Amino acid sequence: MTDRATMKCVLVEAPHSMRIDERPVPRPTQGQVRVRVHFAGICGSDLHIYHGDHPYVEFPRVIGHEFAGVIDAVGSGVPQSRIGERVAVTPVISCGDCTSCRAGRPNVCLNLKVVGVHVEGGFAEYCCVPEALACALPAGVDDRSAATVEPFSIAANMLSRTGVSADDCALVYGAGPIGMTVVQALKGVHGVAPLIVADRLDDRLDRARSAGADMVINVDRTPLDETLARHGLAPTLIIDAACHPAILEQAMRIAAPAARIGLMGFGATPSAVSQQILNRKELTICASRLNNLKFPEVIEWMRRGQINPAQFISHTFAAQRVQEAFDLLETDPTACSKVLLDFTAA
Ligand code: NAI
Ligand code: MN
Repeated sequence: MTDRATMKCVLVEAPHSMRIDERPVPRPTQGQVRVRVHFAGICGSDLHIYHGDHPYVEFPRVIGHEFAGVIDAVGSGVPQSRIGERVAVTPVISCGDCTSCRAGRPNVCLNLKVVGVHVEGGFAEYCCVPEALACALPAGVDDRSAATVEPFSIAANMLSRTGVSADDCALVYGAGPIGMTVVQALKGVHGVAPLIVADRLDDRLDRARSAGADMVINVDRTPLDETLARHGLAPTLIIDAACHPAILEQAMRIAAPAARIGLMGFGATPSAVSQQILNRKELTICASRLNNLKFPEVIEWMRRGQINPAQFISHTFAAQRVQEAFDLLETDPTACSKVLLDFTAA
């Protein structure tokens, strides 16, 4: 347990106002563990919070929901034996009691709280969370990789919603960080072929190819539907990790009958779709939010080497340089995949 009185953390005080704050080291309350954070990943949603266009956040807020470290203190009711455990933290705090929780869907809990959004997050040297959120890591999963369990859990959840078979012909829209976790999981875990990735940026498509995509399509240069038709490909599994409202209509048109379409976006703009296509092909449309207890599965993928977090991580910045890291993500997104903050020496 630390004898330090204060810690450094990344505080978004108000939209466009972010700074390193010095705060008392938090004490774990009943049922909580305190995590000494080692590495934390920056998510697109952290940029949204910073710009004040995140619907749920309240300011000021210590942000960060993708993080891992080691348990250094526990509150009452938590076994002392957890101190010293290396953990990745899932950000999903559920009540355990509502209709969603009872139905086994705690990630859409009626009283959902997300770490780093509704409560103080992991861009800090120390962060206290409910014990159940801290998932043990095996020795084979290093500290940096551990900070990427959360984004990979997004893919794990999406694919558990759609189901995956090695016989699927899969199409992923978007080769941003989230699309890349889906690509790695489809290839590395499920061995899907062919795996087609569509984006508008060649650098990102190059990354997707390195991650195992069999075909990449720059939709700004070649119309996706024509390219697929020319190759005689009708996807049976489509994941939209680009999340433009126009994509669903196209996805339904190019999908094979009985295909599953997974949607990940949070945009408010409606998509115009035809029930005729939906029902003629008997398509399944699946939604996915955060993760439903997927951390152990993702940690196992990492332990077995089925996914490659090192390829996913493009940069690591000392936590003090968080502003620089945010600026890089905004000015040069194609150069970035997952950008980590290092809190070990904060
Ligand atoms: P990103 O913006 O870095 O990546 C999106 C990619 O889609 C970009 O590379 C862009 O060039 C590409 N794109 C744009 N229009 C396209 C089109 N018409 N066809 C093909 N590609 C196109 O975003 P990131 O961080 O990868 O996240 C992707 C989405 O996932 C976001 O909308 C985010 O809100 C959502 N998300 C959903 C979660 C969930 O639990 N459902 C969790 C995390 C993110
Ligand atoms: Mn995230």
